[in-house]
Amino acid sequence: KKERTLALIKPDGILKMGEIIDMILGAGLTITKAKMVALTRDQAMDFYIDHHAKPFLHDLVGLIISAPIFAIEILGDEVVSVWKKLMGPTDPSIARSEAPNSIRASFGTDETKNAVHGSDSVALAAQELELFFPSNGECGPTNTA
Ligand code: CMP
Repeated sequence: KKERTLALIKPDGILKMGEIIDMILGAGLTITKAKMVALTRDQAMDFYIDHHAKPFLHDLVGLIISAPIFAIEILGDEVVSVWKKLMGPTDPSIARSEAPNSIRASFGTDETKNAVHGSDSVALAAQELELFFPSNGECGPTNTA
């Protein structure tokens, strides 16, 4: 079934953006929207709404606002799970043992600096895509660089 998901190339993954995009396209997925954006702290807090109580919230938000990120809408069959599989486990050291060909195994550093983000479910994908690519005609977060 065709789905859409949100992929983010986080600041620590930006230098590998070309290779990451090659992997998305090489997997037969379609990039339908993309833009470079610099999130404000408020936008990052909204985006990570489900993580407000987590001990790593500060690091997570600090990283995502530290430099511009590349936001991508991906379309494909079962793309939510396909993109999660391409990313690999959250922790790059686990990714290196369990999914050595994954993006996080190749380009991740630690649980915070793990190069990429992907929506966890179809419902969250719709919500997260709306934040980055609003359907009301407004442009959403913009590059302030
Ligand atoms: P992301 O997919 O962007 O969204 C949730 C993030 O939480 C995830 O990437 C990780 O970077 C981060 N995360 C999850 N678990 C931990 C953890 N134990 N320590 C630090 N960061 C974490």
